[in-house]
Amino acid sequence: MRKVIVAGNWKMNKTAKEAGEFFAEFKPLVKDVKNAGIIIGAPFTALETAVRETKGTNIKIAAENMNAKESGAYTGEVSPLMLKDLGVEYVILGHSERREYYGETNEIINEKVKSALAHDLKPILCIGEKLEEREANTTEDVVKSQIIGGLKDVTADQMANVILAYEPVWAIGTGKTATPAQAQEVHAFIRSLLTDLFGAQVAENVTVQYGGSMNDGNAAELIAQKDIDGGLVGGASLVPAKFTVIVKAGD
Ligand code: G3H
Repeated sequence: MRKVIVAGNWKMNKTAKEAGEFFAEFKPLVKDVKNAGIIIGAPFTALETAVRETKGTNIKIAAENMNAKESGAYTGEVSPLMLKDLGVEYVILGHSERREYYGETNEIINEKVKSALAHDLKPILCIGEKLEEREANTTEDVVKSQIIGGLKDVTADQMANVILAYEPVWAIGTGKTATPAQAQEVHAFIRSLLTDLFGAQVAENVTVQYGGSMNDGNAAELIAQKDIDGGLVGGASLVPAKFTVIVKAGD
């Protein structure tokens, strides 16, 4: 059966020192969590601290982006080899902020997904429609093209190492969460699409997280939906006590 995984995405927040303070408080709060997977996505500069502070615990660490190439003249970029070297296990790819502010297309994201898998990093592939796309009734078309584009040439076997995160863009950082029914509807569509692409067994086993203003008050109801397998949490993952409530809702 698929795993419920609750991941934080700190985005461009927390220095290395602040990351250390977060984990000092967070580790004891979640030490008894058994069933839910716990991941923290930290900025590059806090990754070394995050990996060190969570070694031997039930918390895994994700980068929030990476370049698909291993090395070379790409000023300011970070490669999968560099992330592996630090002991990072996951990488968030295709977040809507990367698509919107940094021009990442499905093709670019697909190169990164394939590179992550080739380097034994587990991608958390983000997908989701904008408000105008939802209003134009194109949510399913958008999500479908993001999944087909982002997972092009990924094999059924490799899907065991892929997490999907459905994040309606209109719900991110807005306080405007999708209702459990709205989210479930898209999650069910995603799973049926995964069945078409990779077969029923793979589709049943892929963790599909919800993201977009998930918080300590609404997480339990969202995660209780049949096809929602945890969350990708921005703002509420910055505060240990709040994020703990969300993690425990998935446990
Ligand atoms: O990756 C996380 C999402 O963008 C959600 O962010 O929880 O602050 O709305 P948020």
